[in-house]
Amino acid sequence: MKPGIEWQQPRADADCEQFAADLHEALARAPKAISPKYFYDETGSRLFEQICDLPEYYPTRTELALLRGHAADMAAQMGGQVQLVEYGAGALRKVRLLLDAIPRDSVQFVPVDISGPHLLAACDGLAADYPGLAIQPLVADFTRPHALPPCPDGSRRVGFFPGSSIGNFTPAEADAFLRLAASELQGGGLLIGIDLVKDHEVLHAAYNDAAGVTAAFNLNVLERARKELGAQFPVDGFEHLAFYNPAYRRIEMHLRARRPLELRLGGTAYAFHEGETLHTEHSHKYTLEGFQALAARAGFRPGKAWTDANGWFALLWLEALQRG
Ligand code: AVJ
Repeated sequence: MKPGIEWQQPRADADCEQFAADLHEALARAPKAISPKYFYDETGSRLFEQICDLPEYYPTRTELALLRGHAADMAAQMGGQVQLVEYGAGALRKVRLLLDAIPRDSVQFVPVDISGPHLLAACDGLAADYPGLAIQPLVADFTRPHALPPCPDGSRRVGFFPGSSIGNFTPAEADAFLRLAASELQGGGLLIGIDLVKDHEVLHAAYNDAAGVTAAFNLNVLERARKELGAQFPVDGFEHLAFYNPAYRRIEMHLRARRPLELRLGGTAYAFHEGETLHTEHSHKYTLEGFQALAARAGFRPGKAWTDANGWFALLWLEALQRG
């Protein structure tokens, strides 16, 4: 396969108009809620990388250890020649461990990410460390229909969705994503990271770190609105709130108004009463069996799964069934 980076699309910055429209909609809603995808501008992506190194934030460390220990076994499930599609590429730290277990000339790597500048930087770093690797980055929102580069002849298309990013989706959204993935990965498979249901205190600490990085990450959504959209609201008007909601098996993150206040966006003033929140993120936790059942309903056949000794995190191999 042709080595080097081959861009599918010109670099595109996150669309300001879309952010404005979505934020208006989020603030007009009851309860107020916005998509977590707006966390990830350059500052937000950097803060997220800091979260991954926090002592309280076990998922990244645990998943990296699983990849380190089992990459060869995981690569063996994928087969000989692969087009490896990473959904929501981020820093491209984890995929390196997989790439180390696959012969360089047997893989075409297709990282898909919504943040063009971040994806470009990550691809440059990867290309420097993996000379000869074929890389075809795609700037896209992978939850919406998108056109992947064609799968090279003789290759299987394999998805990689680490980090338990699927936890950001409600179960209905997860089902929709898995169906989309099952159809574009037909005949191939999906390697996916899942954060498992566990002790509530361990979960709580992971989203309420002592250093306040998660709080800064959460508050960055409003900082973006201030910088990019000229939104006006009192400094220190909002605080970070994160808690485990056992009824839904999810961590919820919110930005909570410390007192009655107004947030102005464009010509509109949105009122918050004291304690009212803007819901910014869900992070759903699953049992292994529960997630495998969800995947089976969406068109996958669950295969091997790898978990740590605590049973805190899992990587699952899912075969994408061939359909007519
Ligand atoms: C990237 C969605 C997996 O839910 O744990 C980390 C994001 N939010 N700390 C998660 C996040 C707050 C993370 N995911």
